[in-house]
Amino acid sequence: MPQQTTDWRPPGPRGLPVLGSTLDFQRDPFTFRTKVARTYGPVASFDVLTETFYLLTGPEHIERVLVHENEKFIKGDIFQTLLSPVVGQGLLTSEGEQWRKQRHRIQPAFRPDALTHYADIMVEETEEELATWNPGEVRNLHEDMLALTGEIVARSLFGVDVSDRTEVVAEALDVVMGYAESLSSSMVPNWVPTPGKRRFDEAMAILDAVVDDIIEERRADPGDDVISALLAAEDEDGRTMSDDQLRDEVMTLFLAGHETTALSLSFTLFVLAQHPDIEERLVTELDDTLDGATPTVADLGDLPYLERVVKESMRLYPPVHAIIREPTEDVVFDGYRVPAGSPISMPQWTVHRDPAHYDDPMAFRPDRWTDEFEAELPRYAYFPFGGGPRRCIGDRFAMMEARLVLARILQAYHLELVSDPSLDLAASITTRPTSPIEMRVHER
Ligand code: HEM
Repeated sequence: MPQQTTDWRPPGPRGLPVLGSTLDFQRDPFTFRTKVARTYGPVASFDVLTETFYLLTGPEHIERVLVHENEKFIKGDIFQTLLSPVVGQGLLTSEGEQWRKQRHRIQPAFRPDALTHYADIMVEETEEELATWNPGEVRNLHEDMLALTGEIVARSLFGVDVSDRTEVVAEALDVVMGYAESLSSSMVPNWVPTPGKRRFDEAMAILDAVVDDIIEERRADPGDDVISALLAAEDEDGRTMSDDQLRDEVMTLFLAGHETTALSLSFTLFVLAQHPDIEERLVTELDDTLDGATPTVADLGDLPYLERVVKESMRLYPPVHAIIREPTEDVVFDGYRVPAGSPISMPQWTVHRDPAHYDDPMAFRPDRWTDEFEAELPRYAYFPFGGGPRRCIGDRFAMMEARLVLARILQAYHLELVSDPSLDLAASITTRPTSPIEMRVHER
């Protein structure tokens, strides 16, 4: 291996002495990473305090990390610091043999016939949610979407009704995600007892209690659900899963399984409210295909425009704005060296808005998603669900849910945006709106 020289470091802003690019990064991580990528190219670097970050935005580099050479990369320190306090060592955070074993055990919950059964739950829950909306009133959209997707995932995967707990869960989640955002931008180690940390601990206690209740409910009355399957799973030597492990898996599925989809729904309804022509086309497709009937999974194939709208919304507003990894050995990209143990960020936000892949990238244009366009698009120029072995286990669940819920809402209501038409977002673990998205609901 050649000697390391400064030339081996990918180009990037040098920023201020000591602080590097900390302030620019903290102020607006979305824009900062995009600017760095556009200025310095697909392999870049920047400093935040004492840490050098590597920014990969070329689809072929991202594919190498996530797919072809995935065995050289782990999720790494920053990912663990942000997520382990919340989801412990569940499917999202675990590595190696432990991860493989659990993925194998949980995968059956996402097989096609199970998904078909969840589709009915998704539509039923949406109808229950809509029954609480009154024409003319203003709703906090994202709060409603969180409650809805929380109920959907709990009923689908765990067979449990959490409708009486969705409000406390949403509040606790807000504290937890706000804390993760402050942690990622301030880099205060999480053992420092700040006021934020105390609120975080209280919020986690609430989430833990909800998850414990869910598990107890299933332990008392096992059924055909993922918790009962995990409770029954045994090692080769006959050992069952520890209570802590089970808690981590249930917390992971519950949180990863609803916050992201709620964001995708909120963002989609937000952009539709600002594009009446696109909303009208979508409603026409729904009317022509469903003729007022409740959508089912069998209808989804006949609703191509609906799918394009969801895809385009996840392009411009990816619920997960960046994937992070750490190489376990030195890796070279385009002649630049990324040392073992360094954080690598692969931001969907930046890649999905790259004019090299998308014409007029800032425009919301569902029509761009033709078969020809998709066939030509580099594979990792669009990766809202990640890729490779660690790809989202709930990708089809989420795509089905987003389409069914949207279809049902748009059949019943037109939503008028009454809050700020510009969206202020925070880069937490997910892409989160910093103020309520308020919508006045009008009966169709
Ligand atoms: C629009 C909705 C969703 C988006 C954008 C999304 C995005 C992602 C992404 C990007 C990853 C990969 C993270 C990484 O590589 O570091 C991931 C992993 C994961 N997602 Fe999702 N997700 C969504 C919905 C769901 C749903 C509905 C579930 C479960 C019901 C779920 C459960 C998980 C789990 C358990 C993992 C970890 C998988 C593993 O490492 O084996 N997600 N998701």
